[in-house]
Amino acid sequence: MSINKKTIRDIDVKDKKVIVRVDFNVPLKDAVITDDNRIVQALPTINYLKENGAKIILCSHLGKVKEEEDKKKLTLAPVAKDLAQKLNGEVNFVPFTRGAELEEAINSLNPGEIVMFENTRFEDIDGKKESKNDEELGKYWASLSDGIFVNDAFGTAHRAHASNVGIASNVENAVSGFLLEKEIKFIGGVVSNPARPLVAILGGAKVSDKIGVIKNLLNVADYVLIGGGMNYTFLKAKGYEIGKSLCENDKLDLANELLELGKDKLVFPIDINTADDFSNDANSKIVDATNIDSEFEGLDIGPKAIEQFDKYIKDASTVVWNGPMGVFEMPNFAKGTIGVCKSIAANKEATTIIGGGDSAAAAIQLGYAQDFTHISTGGGASLEYLEGKELPGIVCLNEK
Ligand code: 3PG
Repeated sequence: MSINKKTIRDIDVKDKKVIVRVDFNVPLKDAVITDDNRIVQALPTINYLKENGAKIILCSHLGKVKEEEDKKKLTLAPVAKDLAQKLNGEVNFVPFTRGAELEEAINSLNPGEIVMFENTRFEDIDGKKESKNDEELGKYWASLSDGIFVNDAFGTAHRAHASNVGIASNVENAVSGFLLEKEIKFIGGVVSNPARPLVAILGGAKVSDKIGVIKNLLNVADYVLIGGGMNYTFLKAKGYEIGKSLCENDKLDLANELLELGKDKLVFPIDINTADDFSNDANSKIVDATNIDSEFEGLDIGPKAIEQFDKYIKDASTVVWNGPMGVFEMPNFAKGTIGVCKSIAANKEATTIIGGGDSAAAAIQLGYAQDFTHISTGGGASLEYLEGKELPGIVCLNEK
């Protein structure tokens, strides 16, 4: 996919109404934001537009809105409040997705001011208009602007929805914001033009979630290191005892196919931290990967595996990581994930990228966020990008 897309630097936004799609789909607990990374990462674009005198219209989805009842807990009002605090300024939140009140708020914007409207997926209640990229809706949202659309929602770029592709199809200027540009540079850079050696580290529970990523990375990476729950499906496919470890029994053929495809590029942990129960306080023992007790389950990679992985990471020029090495939420089984964080942190020369989701949460929670070149704001989007797929939210933007 061409990644030579226009950005906000390429257009004149002064005194213009600019509609900006951000991904403010942040985790909320009782209306309190528990991880504001996506809001923080959208600030450079918003500040640039403010400083350059744009009249800013912000929109985003939040969660999945299926029925009227969902609206109460999926309002973007707390996000608008948080954003206003971060900007040290005002965000005029309009609790509708269309209509006179929204239009009036937009028409009274002065340069540098911001209107944010309600969760775009409120439009899903009546015929999934947002998620099915309803033609009229994309056209309407586009008409709120002066023909300028900025997409900064990388997390949503794998969706062709009214609030990205729909708006982009109805404006003269559809460009990327700084966050999307950064994601294209780093995640896109891994699959298109990485500095070598490129080492990919893949973890997480299921092989089935990562088939496309493993296949594509086997094409582009020099080594693919496997950890996390999916390791046990591979171990079983190789014919070893895995005890009570997680296993996708219907994916053993697929695991064998990937083993055949990957050959020496695929690297598996040589030892495993196993436990007799899925709990932090379970009895645990470290064993060779080929020697798991039938009554135990693998919950983390072992200390020798941490050293083994370190050797690959140390020599890498690019590292991309997706998926924890073990059950990092339990301190006794977080060592493998911490080990990978430490190895990556120690390689200051390399470009190091976390492809979103759980591993991003792990690195942030474990205190290593600042040690990576880039932590993607995309979960599904970064996986699809790493699979080598075209993302509609990027494709729809103007070429340079
Ligand atoms: C995400 O969190 O991955 C994005 O915001 C997309 O959300 P969705 O999976 O609900 O479309």
